[in-house]
Amino acid sequence: MVRKAGFGMCGIVGITGNENAVDILLNGLQRLEYRGYDSAGIYVNSQDGKEYLVKEKGRIDDLRKEIGEDVHGSSGIGHTRWATHGVPSKENAHPHVSADGRFFLVHNGVIGNFAELKATYLQDVKFASDTDTEVIVQLIAKFAKEENLATKEAFKKVISLIDESSSYSFLLMDNREPETLYVAKNKSPLLIGVGKGFNVVCSDAIAMLDQTHDFIELVDGEIVIVKPQSVTIEDAQGNIINRKPFHVDTDASEAEKGAYPYYMLKEIDEQPTVMRSLIKHYTTDDGSVIIDDALLDSMKKADRLYIVAAGTSYHAGLVGKEIFEGLAKVPTEVHVASEFGYNPPILSEKPFFIFLTQSGETADSRQVLAQVNKWGYESLTITNVENSTLSREATFTLLLYAGPEIAVASTKAYTGQIALEAILAKRLGEEKDVSAATSFNVARELTTVANGMQELVDEKGQYEQIAANALATTRNAFYIGRAIDYDVAQEAALKLKEVSYVQTEGFASGELKHGTIALIEEGTPVIAIITCAKTAKHTRSNTQEVLARGANVINIVSRNLAEDGDQIILPDVHSLLTPLLAIVPCQLLAYYTSLQRGYDVDKPRNLAKSVTVE
Ligand code: G6P
Repeated sequence: MVRKAGFGMCGIVGITGNENAVDILLNGLQRLEYRGYDSAGIYVNSQDGKEYLVKEKGRIDDLRKEIGEDVHGSSGIGHTRWATHGVPSKENAHPHVSADGRFFLVHNGVIGNFAELKATYLQDVKFASDTDTEVIVQLIAKFAKEENLATKEAFKKVISLIDESSSYSFLLMDNREPETLYVAKNKSPLLIGVGKGFNVVCSDAIAMLDQTHDFIELVDGEIVIVKPQSVTIEDAQGNIINRKPFHVDTDASEAEKGAYPYYMLKEIDEQPTVMRSLIKHYTTDDGSVIIDDALLDSMKKADRLYIVAAGTSYHAGLVGKEIFEGLAKVPTEVHVASEFGYNPPILSEKPFFIFLTQSGETADSRQVLAQVNKWGYESLTITNVENSTLSREATFTLLLYAGPEIAVASTKAYTGQIALEAILAKRLGEEKDVSAATSFNVARELTTVANGMQELVDEKGQYEQIAANALATTRNAFYIGRAIDYDVAQEAALKLKEVSYVQTEGFASGELKHGTIALIEEGTPVIAIITCAKTAKHTRSNTQEVLARGANVINIVSRNLAEDGDQIILPDVHSLLTPLLAIVPCQLLAYYTSLQRGYDVDKPRNLAKSVTVE
């Protein structure tokens, strides 16, 4: 596997053939805002000799102000940048322009050999930024001029010089052909949206759902020429490729916040609906589960499941292990995607791979899937995004139907993934005649979960209060639990860290005393998750150990295990599904702590919604 430093997820939009290019680009960029960025810019051309390049550090709203009323055009490109090469600044924001003022380029990804390219070809060029992207646009201009190449040929030549380790999606304009967008990609997502009399380009369909619902996916190595009336795709050998668009059903309005102050709160509240939507999509009225036979056949043959994921999805995988082992009696391993390549496990004879990924685009997971495909093993991607890269590249896909998740901190995708694992494990276990599965009515159990979640989200006031008392000013915090509660503790800690920047650890409660208990001081918040009957007593005795050292203990406990003094009580549900409830108060504690500390809960610092660079 090729490894490379780099981080982040920029956004790309482009349009040709619409007089409202400026608004369409800005609205598109605004829809990609949630992914995290530090600067943004657009280039538009009015086709009558006028062109505008406007960039700004900060938010799209700042860029909008800078643009004002006078900028207009019918074609253009736009970008939100997440700094990798060069600090966040106006100069380093995209689009980048060649020194002769002719070519304009936006880019997502990382060019591995940009320094070599600069040293070899561009010694005499004066650069305006520190970015790898500017090297590419300067090179295109150089070849176009010195070798008298047409734009497409210059573009192709530059792409051929980019080394293997690089990732990119490019959107290029030449002001001598203002109606044309030149497009290419490698390991970085990019789609063409097809309209009537206009066409668009975007790194995520959500950016352009106001314009079209029909998108063409691109394959690495292709060069695409987009004009108002045509989209021409050429493969690496120069053959013309005809590819039909796919249809995206998501409604742009589903991505709106509506009455909510933040997406994170909206998405926490949507979790009961996500449960019901999964029941609707995957079960019939009589409670049977609908899963594709080919997928079941493939999973039935497996002697071991390997779940691969990153971040919150990895934590959903930890719970998945309990569920697959509990209901389908199939040994299951869970792996952090970014570690798998360096430290692959010894595979069983008949492995089956499950990729959990909200976005379907996470580069770390994609790298593992590419390796799995090379090995020739079958795989399943569980994702929220139809037609995402991991969905296209796996043998099978199951969708979460959770609606777009916009807040960077993942909430409804976590619970959706766990619920879908339960649905799948039920069906697989039934197929294998495991009694734990045959007696498990997943639709009924998930309905109980949905009702329980509703009860929890209806009582927001108490979490706001606990956050204010225990977390708003703390330096650090702990979530503890055993068995399945330990899985939840890890996700709960990640949630609090991500949005409130409180240093938080999710700990196996029995392990705390073997060292980490040294960190407990007067008032240190320790939140214990107690839903597992087998381990409840032991976790409670661990809370006594930290209480004795001054900790501020908060218990989150299932109703049937509750005792006097427990602060947060969870409705009872099936023992394999308690994480679906236990996580909800933790998400809300994280949310309120972030607000109380004065942070932007939807766009935490340093984080990106989907990390498409390794
Ligand atoms: C990023 C996000 C996390 C997310 C992880 C995996 O790091 O900030 O919230 O859990 O990627 O994303 P995926 O889309 O693969 O689930």
